[in-house]
Amino acid sequence: MRKFKFSALAPLNMLLTALIAALLSGCAPDNSDQASIAAANGHPGQALYQDYCYSCHNPGIGGAPRLGDAEAWAPRAAKGADLLLQTTIEGIAPGMPPRGLCMSCSDAELAQVIDYMLVTAKSE
Ligand code: HEC
Repeated sequence: MRKFKFSALAPLNMLLTALIAALLSGCAPDNSDQASIAAANGHPGQALYQDYCYSCHNPGIGGAPRLGDAEAWAPRAAKGADLLLQTTIEGIAPGMPPRGLCMSCSDAELAQVIDYMLVTAKSE
């Protein structure tokens, strides 16, 4: 009797588990991609990112697009690297300070950091 009940419910159980797993992964609040972040290790812009941009762009302070978050970066990336460099140099009030607070960074260094951020946010 018991055995019969278990086997009759097993497919339903599996379906529920799959549904719950699908729901959970769909609702994950953290959509930063750890794999693409790891793959960008050693990028020339990484060190300056860690020193100047990390504090806002890792937690997403003030709506900052987070490192590795493909969804948040997609509309930014669409602007193109030149325009992103320009907005980074000028800042975007009120959240993004001019030069991302790295006053000693050259424009070329900022461009490298932006490239690092874009590489980590590629969806694959
Ligand atoms: C004080 C917090 C803070 C720091 C530090 C910071 N950012 Fe940002 N950044 C933001 C916020 C907030 C936004 C989103 C601004 C908006 O779209 O309103 C942003 C947006 C950006 C964008 C997207 C710009 C666009 O045109 O869409 C780039 C690129 C960027 N930051 C690069 C950097 C770089 C490079 C550094 C480090 C050198 C840096 N940020 C440091 C807060 C910060």
